[in-house]
Amino acid sequence: MHELYSDPVAMQHLESELPRSVEESKRWVKDKIDLHDETGLSLWAVVLSATGEVIGDAGLHLLEDGETVEVGVRIVRRLWGRGYGREAADACVEAGFRELDLVRVVGVTDPANQAAIRAMRQGGMTEVGLETHYGREWIVFEVTRT
Ligand SMILES: CC(C)(COP(=O)(O)OP(=O)(O)OC[C@H]1O[C@@H](n2cnc3c(N)ncnc32)[C@H](O)[C@@H]1OP(=O)(O)O)[C@@H](O)C(=O)NCCC(=O)NCCS
Repeated sequence: MHELYSDPVAMQHLESELPRSVEESKRWVKDKIDLHDETGLSLWAVVLSATGEVIGDAGLHLLEDGETVEVGVRIVRRLWGRGYGREAADACVEAGFRELDLVRVVGVTDPANQAAIRAMRQGGMTEVGLETHYGREWIVFEVTRT
């Protein structure tokens, strides 16, 4: 996870200050485990089933309104463009519908994040438009349970 979390290119559209050490990345992972234990939502490990390698994180979490559930995915840069991001996003959305009984999941990203926008469009999400969250403007997509 440290390869991903400390990569300024992969993390450029995300708000947080990046971890400078493996220890700090471990704390990020621990925070996600705690969040899962407390809420049932979190970013979970994305694991290549063939090798067991952890290649990113993906999951569901609440937006600041405390109701809307967002899907998020981050994959290590050396493995971009192989379909892993979309597969992970689909799996999270499906788990949200089937196991958590959600009816709607959104995708929220920086309007400059072409990779994420394309992945959401290609993944069948519908563009809602621009919305303000956490004090700035984001492009929002949605998918609803059928
Ligand atoms: C967004 C992200 C998860 C996509 O992961 P991925 O494994 O490359 O995704 P996929 O291989 O499933 O590709 C999905 C689509 O995005 C496109 N894509 C991937 N990387 C791209 C890039 N850097 N620029 C433009 N398009 C890109 C793919 O070509 C594909 O479109 P296509 O089917 O029309 O070819 C990955 O780029 C990433 O981790 N980015 C950094 C973190 C981030 O910004 N996450 C999203 C925040 S919500």
